[in-house]
Amino acid sequence: MTPSPRRILVTSALPYANGPIHLGHLVEYVQTDIWARFQRLRGHECHYVCADDAHGTPIMLRAWSEGIDPEVLIARMAQEHRADFAGFGIAFDQYHSTHSPENRELAERIYARLREGGHIVQRTVTDLYDPEKKIFLPDRFIKGGCPRCGAADQYGDSCEVCGATYSPTELRDPVSALSGARPEPRENLHFFFRLPDFEPMLRAWTGGGHVQPEVANKLGEWFDAGLREWDISRDAPYFGFEIPGSPGKYFYVWLDAPIGYMASFRRLCERTGLDFDEWWGPDSTAELYHFIGKDIVYFHTLFWPAMLHGSGFRTPTAVWAHGFLTVNGRKMSKSRGTFIRARTYLDHLDAEYLRYYFAAKLGPGVDDLDLNLEDFVQRVNADLVGKVVNIASRCAGFVHRLAGGRLAAALPEPGLYGEFAGAADTVAAAYEERDYARAMREIMALADRANQYIDAHKPWLAAKDPARAAEVTAVCTQGLNLFRALMVYLKPVLPATAERAESFLAAGALRWDDVHAPLLDHAIAQFEPLLRRVDPAAVAAMMAAAGPQGDAGTDATAAPAAADEVPTVDYEQFAKIDLRVARIVRAEAVAGADKLLRLTLDLGEETRTVFAGIKAAYRPEDLAGRLTVVVANLAPRKMRFGVSEGMVLAAGPGGRDLWLIAPDAGARPGMRVK
Ligand code: MSP
Ligand code: ZN
Repeated sequence: MTPSPRRILVTSALPYANGPIHLGHLVEYVQTDIWARFQRLRGHECHYVCADDAHGTPIMLRAWSEGIDPEVLIARMAQEHRADFAGFGIAFDQYHSTHSPENRELAERIYARLREGGHIVQRTVTDLYDPEKKIFLPDRFIKGGCPRCGAADQYGDSCEVCGATYSPTELRDPVSALSGARPEPRENLHFFFRLPDFEPMLRAWTGGGHVQPEVANKLGEWFDAGLREWDISRDAPYFGFEIPGSPGKYFYVWLDAPIGYMASFRRLCERTGLDFDEWWGPDSTAELYHFIGKDIVYFHTLFWPAMLHGSGFRTPTAVWAHGFLTVNGRKMSKSRGTFIRARTYLDHLDAEYLRYYFAAKLGPGVDDLDLNLEDFVQRVNADLVGKVVNIASRCAGFVHRLAGGRLAAALPEPGLYGEFAGAADTVAAAYEERDYARAMREIMALADRANQYIDAHKPWLAAKDPARAAEVTAVCTQGLNLFRALMVYLKPVLPATAERAESFLAAGALRWDDVHAPLLDHAIAQFEPLLRRVDPAAVAAMMAAAGPQGDAGTDATAAPAAADEVPTVDYEQFAKIDLRVARIVRAEAVAGADKLLRLTLDLGEETRTVFAGIKAAYRPEDLAGRLTVVVANLAPRKMRFGVSEGMVLAAGPGGRDLWLIAPDAGARPGMRVK
């Protein structure tokens, strides 16, 4: 039986407001939603809150590039995000924004308390200044090698490879992503959060069972490397909250982002009368869980508990990290057409399929999981349609035809039913531990038993003999009760299917404890199809829509195109440019560079190496053998990956929409272009 009610608050990480929700994000929102629904189904008080993460440089730059106010951009994104989440059945109790009065008030309060506690210091530091654009460069617009692990092409604030956080001046060989110039060091005032003050508290907290074992190991490495002060201020222009009393200085987005969890809950309190302090106060007895991706562990297991503790709030009961989604075995990629937006999926497929597929693959750890589309079709059809829904469709008709839609008064095999009801605790334990894969295996093993039972009793044969009507009704009553128990167990994963099953069973909303009392002598409603088979053609249509021409869109994190003024050149200057036909002998990706291809060019008399920023537009294998036009007398330029001996000509706005200038087929390498 369900233990006495718990009070639980759960969160998912706040998606950035500068891009669409994609299937990778959904791993997390589906994982959290299943857990929250499971808790509610068990009769616990469980609130699930989230918000858009609306601040920061990429959002500001994207708004600029669209020529709109950031407020307009984030309002539009919030609407899209909400619609996508609703489409996947993600049942937030509150969805808010970090750009909200509640969040400003809480961020200011937490900052003030940290400062009073002596945990904020101001220091003049050397920042990187873009001498061409004449601004201090935001972290995200400086790229270089990670100072900890050496990975190339990392952003200025944190490393996507090893998870380290650092300041941009520590990057190896930094370049401005805005202008390509080498940034210049300049003095600038910054505010720091003294994370090392909290080392004893953090060691105790992270060692106290609040994180997964894999995460605890990682934290051990971070402690060994030494905790460092965290830079929490950014300079104008910035979209965020200005630091009180410090004009022109803003809270770094990651300072107010996790506070957004509290702000969203505060909003829920305002709407429903919940008492904020009972949940966030230092003596709170409520449970607080944060579901996050493994890339943001540092923020949630070090900065966040320290900030909460240092400002007199409670710390989380646990932080749970999951792994990353790959599609067909590889990282999601726009150029491979495996970057699938939530909306694209919903245009073609039922959300319940993906919820089940993720559940079947999610364990309690931080392992990555793969969406293999063939396996997806096969598994959903075999398990959900072939095993579960099938039980109901095999039994319902006979109960209507032979018993006027009324279930028998007793189960012919109470022992078998007892096995199903008896699985409640095992399945619950698996859900509780976030081992959904194990829960799904248990449930599908039961579904196999139910189908074996029906196969053994062959109601379709017995139904031919009018004298055996009562027996057939009894067998189908057994089958439908087994189906009902399975639907109780699957309800957190398949809310829409469960709702249709509830209408069919006509006995109200299914609750966890319902499995202990079978439905007997009860009138059921007409059977409506509960879930259709996945149509492989719909999957193919989705992939076509997501493909390079479909979802790719613009790269939300790219810097806006500068509206450069183009000076006039006279003929003399133009005549100096040596344009030549070249044959692309080989094109290769450059390790560590997202935009570049290394081209080996045949210019007739000689072979050259040229780096071209055309990776988003062309697959390397498609380029070999093609002719293009190259600026042959451009001075060689040393780049981070090697020396570029010329430049290939291309037209288009950039990114994916870029076309190499190709001469007539009759041209030959080395020929001059005029
Ligand atoms: N805004 C921050 C989180 C702030 S929380 C106080 C952020 N946003 S995000 O949009 O980049 O990611 C939101 C969540 O989705 C993160 O937990 C992230 O790990 C997760 N995922 C993003 N891409 C993912 C996959 N491909 N696979 C699985 N989870 C992924 O980080
Ligand atoms: Zn690194």
